Amino acid sequence: MELARLTEDHIDMCGIVAYIGHRPAQPILLEGLKRLEYRGYDSAGMAVLNSELHIVRTVGRVRVLEDMLAKQDGFEGTLGIAHTRWATHGKPSERNAHPHCDDETNGHGIALIHNGIIENYTALRTYLQGRGHTFRSDTDTEVLVHLIGALYAGNLEGAVQAALREVTGAYAIAVICRKEPDVLVVARKGSPLMVGVGKDEYIVASDSSAIVAHTTQALTLEDYTVVKLTRDSFRTTTIDNVPVTAQVRELEFDLEQIELGDYEHYMLKEICEQPRALRECLRGRIDPSKGQVVLGGIGQYARELVKARRIIFVGQGTAMHAAMVGEYLMEELAKIPTEVEFASEFRYRNPIIEEGTVVIAISQSGETADTLSALHEARQRGALTIGLVNVVGSSIARDSDAGVYLRVGPEIGVASTKAFLGHIMVSTLLATFIGRRRYLSSDYVASLLGELEAIPDHVERVVGLSEEIRDVTARYAHRENWLFLGRGYNYPVALEGALKLKEISYIHAEGMPAAEMKHGPIALIDDGMPVVVIALRNSQYAKVVSNIEEVRTRGGHVIAVATEGDTEIAQHCEAVFYVPHVSEPLQPMLTVVPLQLLAYHAAVIRGKDVDKPRNLAKSVTVE
Ligand code: AGP
Repeated sequence: MELARLTEDHIDMCGIVAYIGHRPAQPILLEGLKRLEYRGYDSAGMAVLNSELHIVRTVGRVRVLEDMLAKQDGFEGTLGIAHTRWATHGKPSERNAHPHCDDETNGHGIALIHNGIIENYTALRTYLQGRGHTFRSDTDTEVLVHLIGALYAGNLEGAVQAALREVTGAYAIAVICRKEPDVLVVARKGSPLMVGVGKDEYIVASDSSAIVAHTTQALTLEDYTVVKLTRDSFRTTTIDNVPVTAQVRELEFDLEQIELGDYEHYMLKEICEQPRALRECLRGRIDPSKGQVVLGGIGQYARELVKARRIIFVGQGTAMHAAMVGEYLMEELAKIPTEVEFASEFRYRNPIIEEGTVVIAISQSGETADTLSALHEARQRGALTIGLVNVVGSSIARDSDAGVYLRVGPEIGVASTKAFLGHIMVSTLLATFIGRRRYLSSDYVASLLGELEAIPDHVERVVGLSEEIRDVTARYAHRENWLFLGRGYNYPVALEGALKLKEISYIHAEGMPAAEMKHGPIALIDDGMPVVVIALRNSQYAKVVSNIEEVRTRGGHVIAVATEGDTEIAQHCEAVFYVPHVSEPLQPMLTVVPLQLLAYHAAVIRGKDVDKPRNLAKSVTVE
């Protein structure tokens, strides 16, 4: 039972790095692991093969592994694999860290690293134990390497293919064998894996951040692909050993973008680079003078989108909050009935997909398992699927019928910031693209696009409030319970502000529609409780002001996000963060920024690990 619980609860967002070439593997593998640290982990390990197989594993940070390696002999070699493991249930331990090896007594010196879950590992473990295999860990991964060992007959590629035919679940793996010192075998299904193609060398990793330092050419692997790599060649097949062609493509990544620069944390860097990111997102996509939106990625589906009878957004977390803004945008600008669902709910509730339904999967990483599965569910039920994704070539991007890339650059901080604005910007463009082909006049669109073009400058102004926001946050950072209130377009922003605060400062925060507070949560308000209220001059301003009064008469302290020039609001609040006036549909891209900065400063003041918060990973690649 213990094992089943571990595997069931074992949320596995591991980092994989592997190298085969002519350079020493160890420094390349270590540097790759450091690039993947942002994914979240609690233990790390490495195996390097020369005439012998050398393995070291440890609980803790990559630098602990680095220190151990500095004291180890024998780790010279030009072939190796390395791994960062993330376990949420069951103490992280050295014996559960990867790489795992096949059986010590009747094994072949095979070492393997894995990201994903082997769902039928119990049956396989029983079968292998019946054949005399001894297991040394609680992981599902160890079953896979023993299975490969049991099937090994002098051909590692063949043994891996045969083993993968027996497993169900998700995997991204890298495998080496003492008996084949010139071969590295990798494979993927349902977990991300990329193969960087260098000059007589290959660097394999979970994502491009660990590859771009060496090459920007990478193989995109479909599910069930096995790649056999030697120092100067590669062969791609299915798990049934049927040759397949893998596309080599240019990675849209440059190192500067993923370097921390002068910032203390990636999250702050990514908040501050939102103006540039939004300009990049808009580049070449709008022509305000002609009132035109140009979205190459969906052009061929323009008619189907314009004729759509229903739109369903699916996503998780921050992407879900952006999708909620997308719902308002679609109904206001495109005038198409729209709804939003958690991807994890959509995929299991037997959704009704009729003729004319469009499902929009929204995801920064493009690898969130629930969102990917919801997309697959929608496709097989006949929906047109659109992906709004940041990572180029990611699974959701590849499996959607069409899509629009956010183009906000790599997002390294676990707490999503610039991707939220990117999602909203792209959703606005998509809604306007469709709306212009339905009921929107070119004058209205020209005016809206003119406002859109100014958003990056407005965001720049709000980012400039960081010091002021930090000072206000310092007064409340010790408080353990916060409320976030918003109405209309800013209701999802209230949810997003609460998520940001709780996920990096570990403060309990709850977002809700401002009117909902009276239906229960108002009971929570006690003396000095911080309540953040988005109170911009818009259609519901007067209502929000009365909500603010309801908070204050019960002793709550109100921190408002308000419209520049609104001096009246200051009389009702302990603190006000002002943002420039824009039309209501565009407000979320401004009102979220003070909340991002508030969460960031609260986490720093509370001494938390801003970029790698506990229990979280950047991309939840399994259910
Ligand atoms: C947001 O700050 C969180 N890191 C998390 O909620 C995230 O938004 C969610 O896991 C979805 O990720 P995706 O956008 O990559 O699909």
